[in-house]
Amino acid sequence: MDELIGLMSEKDYISGEKLCQSLQLTRGAVWKRIQKLRAQGYVIVSAGKRGYMLSPVPDSLLPGYVARELTTGWLGRGEICYQPTVGSTNAWCKEMAREGARCGTVCLCDEQTMGRGRLGRVWDAQKGQNLLMSVLLRPKLTPESAQTVTLAAALATALAIDEVTGLSPKIKWPNDLLCEGKKLTGILVEMSADMDRLLSVVVGIGVNVNQTAFPEELQATATSLKLLLGHDVSRRSLMVSVLKHLERTITALTQGGFAAIAKEYERLSLTLHQDVTIKPVSGEAPYEAKALSLDDTGALIIGLQNGQTRRVISAEVSVRGGI
Ligand code: BTN
Repeated sequence: MDELIGLMSEKDYISGEKLCQSLQLTRGAVWKRIQKLRAQGYVIVSAGKRGYMLSPVPDSLLPGYVARELTTGWLGRGEICYQPTVGSTNAWCKEMAREGARCGTVCLCDEQTMGRGRLGRVWDAQKGQNLLMSVLLRPKLTPESAQTVTLAAALATALAIDEVTGLSPKIKWPNDLLCEGKKLTGILVEMSADMDRLLSVVVGIGVNVNQTAFPEELQATATSLKLLLGHDVSRRSLMVSVLKHLERTITALTQGGFAAIAKEYERLSLTLHQDVTIKPVSGEAPYEAKALSLDDTGALIIGLQNGQTRRVISAEVSVRGGI
């Protein structure tokens, strides 16, 4: 967070003199930096001798506002990066990972021009309405267990939505969150690894928060928190809660493996113990099966109609009759 923003409070004024002293800057230089922050979107009020105060901007994702509300130990504590518009927060975060950014770096934006979905799809979201974030992790996990990060992210996002709104989304394996049979959230995890360990994992989370209109082709399958609740939800509160839960689920995962979060995940699963249709990503014909369990890498174990079991790592899995 910018040092000057960090010195200011939303409750009381801080004098110009104190700011100059703390930052070892002249009054003119402090003034210039205040102007720069205002141009970025911070609302800073000044009152003569009393000095400066930060005014709240509800739902702003500017790091100086976000950092004040964080409750995490390490997630989001390194760097919170915000841009009004980017191509994709995942692409941006991956670039930062390549440049050596720290574990726990968070990338946020109000609008994506090239939002990415799973399986090469596009992720569209109206400007300023939804939560679009990517988190950089460097977990001590093997490449085979990368899928468990996806499940941990879905669990954390479901718990955050429950905490902030009281809605109880269910998880469609591996990581879609559904409410009333419609999709609320998409998660895209992208990783880089060498033979025996993950180097970086970018967890991209898109939540439909306040968007109420969807393109025709999505109307039957997509929903948002606002459509479900009938009122706006703060993206910032949701984001802060996602980070809190994600820190816990990822820490549990790296310390105790998938077993450490399996029960919680299974409790929210829409897929387990259901009759499902499996659509292989290879393009092969869809087939019917029963979702039996999850193994310790997060793969789905299914029972086939001929009595055999199969391990599914990546596929479109829909509960029969649903999306
Ligand atoms: C899906 O297809 O269900 C996954 C969608 C993931 C979308 C999020 S939005 C933030 C992050 N940046 C991206 O480009 N994609 C993810």
